[in-house]
Amino acid sequence: MTNKEFALRRSYLAEQMGEGTIAILPSSSVKNRNRDVDHHFRQDSDFHYLTGFNEPESVLVIIPGRKYGETILFCRERDPSKEMWDGFIAGPDRVTDILGVDDAFPIGDIDDILPGMIEGTDKVYYSMGLDAQFDSQVMEWINVIRSKVRSGAHPPGEFVALEHALHELRLFKSAAEIKNMERSAEIAAQGHIKAMEVCRAGLFEYHLESSIIHSFMNAGSRFVAYPSIVGSGDNGCTLHYIDNHSELKNGDLVLIDAGCEVECYASDITRTFPVSGKFSKEQAALYQIVLDAQLAAIAEVKPGNHWNHPHEAAVKIIANGLIELGLLSGSLEDAIKNETYKKFYMHRTGHWLGLDVHDVGEYKVDGEWRLLESGMVLTVEPGIYISPTCTDVPKKWRGIGIRIEDDVVVTKTSNKVLSKSAPKTIDEIESLMARSCK
Ligand code: GLY
Ligand code: MN
Ligand code: MN
Repeated sequence: MTNKEFALRRSYLAEQMGEGTIAILPSSSVKNRNRDVDHHFRQDSDFHYLTGFNEPESVLVIIPGRKYGETILFCRERDPSKEMWDGFIAGPDRVTDILGVDDAFPIGDIDDILPGMIEGTDKVYYSMGLDAQFDSQVMEWINVIRSKVRSGAHPPGEFVALEHALHELRLFKSAAEIKNMERSAEIAAQGHIKAMEVCRAGLFEYHLESSIIHSFMNAGSRFVAYPSIVGSGDNGCTLHYIDNHSELKNGDLVLIDAGCEVECYASDITRTFPVSGKFSKEQAALYQIVLDAQLAAIAEVKPGNHWNHPHEAAVKIIANGLIELGLLSGSLEDAIKNETYKKFYMHRTGHWLGLDVHDVGEYKVDGEWRLLESGMVLTVEPGIYISPTCTDVPKKWRGIGIRIEDDVVVTKTSNKVLSKSAPKTIDEIESLMARSCK
């Protein structure tokens, strides 16, 4: 992503804010894991979207129409002894050139400088409630101005949720963003193929996870977009299963939900396949329903359709399939109206995808499902889960958990599946697994 694109995003935001306003956006902070060990730093997605700056302890300020430039960054000062341990720090002197921002100051000076920048503006754009400590810091800066009203200071009169304007921008992906997402999806798809190739009974779920992570990193993606789910047998019915510690057994399916990041852009793919390489009769019957539902849902991803169209298409096919197999009773109409299918399909068919795996953007506008438009990216991920606790269901169905998930971009006329390289028909999966030597 070029500095030019980051600058363009800031200028779109500034345009929407208008003059007489200020936006304040803190970076993520380093999170401690245990004692002296920290988690890898991951920049806040809003902050990344507007700067591309990958350092903690930073604050971005945008002041539309400011005479000396609209974009100001507060960041860490250079510190040779800290850099010796933890590596590169850009520092205010270099960061203007590196990022193309207008002005930069040491983060340690923010209390002295920022109230003067807020003073005189009418509106503060800020995402309140995400970080209690930063919320109170913002209020302190406002209070500094309020304490000076008798000397003629003008505190802002209004706080506006920054995320409304910003998340609307993030919802529509540029060509450069889609390129990253395409790469992220392709790398993730290859990881899923790898898992199918190496899968065999006797391995543990985490062995498949390790193949996937190896494949991601080897292909140039350093980070997973979320902890990989590798659930075999009953574990496939636990939607957010991440223990990944069970042994793979012939006769079981394994559900893998894994995606990676490319320049912070997430992929999010699920494939479900038999440990043995061959689907049983019951597994194949349920799998085909999920696949038909997924294909029907993808066909509904096109401009002019609304957000819920893919979900409605998936629900119809899943409910009908479950009735045909005798797993649900009554009519299709009743199953949909009374939502009896939710016993086996309890989640929605997708979500926005982008810098966050569950990306930002409204799903409804003025109380109505939002229309799909070119440049939006979403997942399509129906599933059927027959929990081992469903004792009212014949045993042969229990412990089958299936989800098929692809990443789909809305194009001008229809859609493009970014994750299409990962096989998903029964034939494709069985042939791939038969070909790989075990
Ligand atoms: N991997 C998270 C999800 O599918 O929503
Ligand atoms: Mn998903
Ligand atoms: Mn997923």
